[in-house]
Amino acid sequence: MKILVTGGAGFIGGNFVHYMVEKYPEDEIVNLDLLTYAGNLETLKPVEGRSNYHFVRGDISDRPFIMELFEKEGFDIVVNFAAESHVDRSIEEPEAFVKTNVLGTQVLLDASRKYGVKRYHQVSTDEVYGDLPLDRPDLFFTEETPLHTSSPYSSSKASADLFVLAYYRTYGLPVTISRCSNNYGPYHFPEKLIPLIISRALADEELPVYGKGENIRDWLYVSDHCEAIDLIIRKGRVGEVYNVGGHNERTNLQVVKTILAILEKPESLIRFVADRPGHDRRYAINPEKLERELGWKPKYTFELGIRQTIRWYLEHKEWWQHILSGEYEQYFEKMYGNRM
Ligand code: NAD
Ligand code: TYD
Repeated sequence: MKILVTGGAGFIGGNFVHYMVEKYPEDEIVNLDLLTYAGNLETLKPVEGRSNYHFVRGDISDRPFIMELFEKEGFDIVVNFAAESHVDRSIEEPEAFVKTNVLGTQVLLDASRKYGVKRYHQVSTDEVYGDLPLDRPDLFFTEETPLHTSSPYSSSKASADLFVLAYYRTYGLPVTISRCSNNYGPYHFPEKLIPLIISRALADEELPVYGKGENIRDWLYVSDHCEAIDLIIRKGRVGEVYNVGGHNERTNLQVVKTILAILEKPESLIRFVADRPGHDRRYAINPEKLERELGWKPKYTFELGIRQTIRWYLEHKEWWQHILSGEYEQYFEKMYGNRM
């Protein structure tokens, strides 16, 4: 089988490429990525030179390029990770989110339809459901929870999901969608909470926590997400949405304090800063459908996953230090300069 993975130079897509190249030597994995600020070919070093893998640079919203690629390659399966993915950036500059996340998805859907792709899988997010109140721990997102987005990022992801479902209903394109909670693990770009805190704590720098740090996220170790997607593309029912999450809810402050304790760094590094506008309060996934229908179970608790993640960052300093020494430095100044 020939599988197109888009966004495979990013965090989750990169982990998925590693997983697929290793697990299915008989399949051919083509990784298409534009290499935006978030794309990093160093993430793909472990698979470079493997006979069942190759990389193509390009933009999923470039229609002529995508049509030509699909005609040439004849993909059986498409897994779309490519996206602008950072909420804070979407608040600063929403346009790129519409172009890549909405238009790019629609171009991939058209190409999948035209060239008879057997399965189109959209990697979506629990953020399309909006947020839950902090004082109702009994509430969880199910696949039936109405879409109710907060940020330009989540709005663009929800729009894409609606196009994916429309292509199923209207044209019969065989699609599936996964909506996952917050991921963490190796190769996570250090603008997101967990790698940001690890890298800054190691440098004894202040740790920006938005508002009071009370917001809750439901954390999933990235390899558990990769296994869920693999199951869904092979055994999931066409036209269906599957929630992915492992019941690992933590407040942001709990996450930061856990990292500080493992690194043996002082809590005095924590700095409460101005809150994110429209900040979602709580995400919490009910993953029962995926467990019941496909037998998925996460392998990692948060305690295990966070220790493994921290060990990875300690053993791969070069990977993230290359990023920090570049464009990201200016980004930090722009995003936090007048906030701290
Ligand atoms: P990321 O920002 O680390 O990676 C995105 C990748 O897409 C980068 O390699 C980038 O170069 C590439 N890309 C961006 N625009 C492109 C374009 N126009 N054409 C081709 N490639 C392009 O993101 P991530 O955290 O790995 O997230 C991957 C997917 O998973 C996204 O669709 C995101 O919405 C979804 N998701 C993420 C999380 C999370 O916690 N990170 C949780 C649930 C769902
Ligand atoms: P993030 O990793 O950006 O993921 P998302 O917003 O998609 O959930 O942020 C996770 C949580 O951490 C979110 O509630 C915002 C908060 N946060 C901070 O408190 N400080 C930071 O510097 C960042 C980047 C995030």
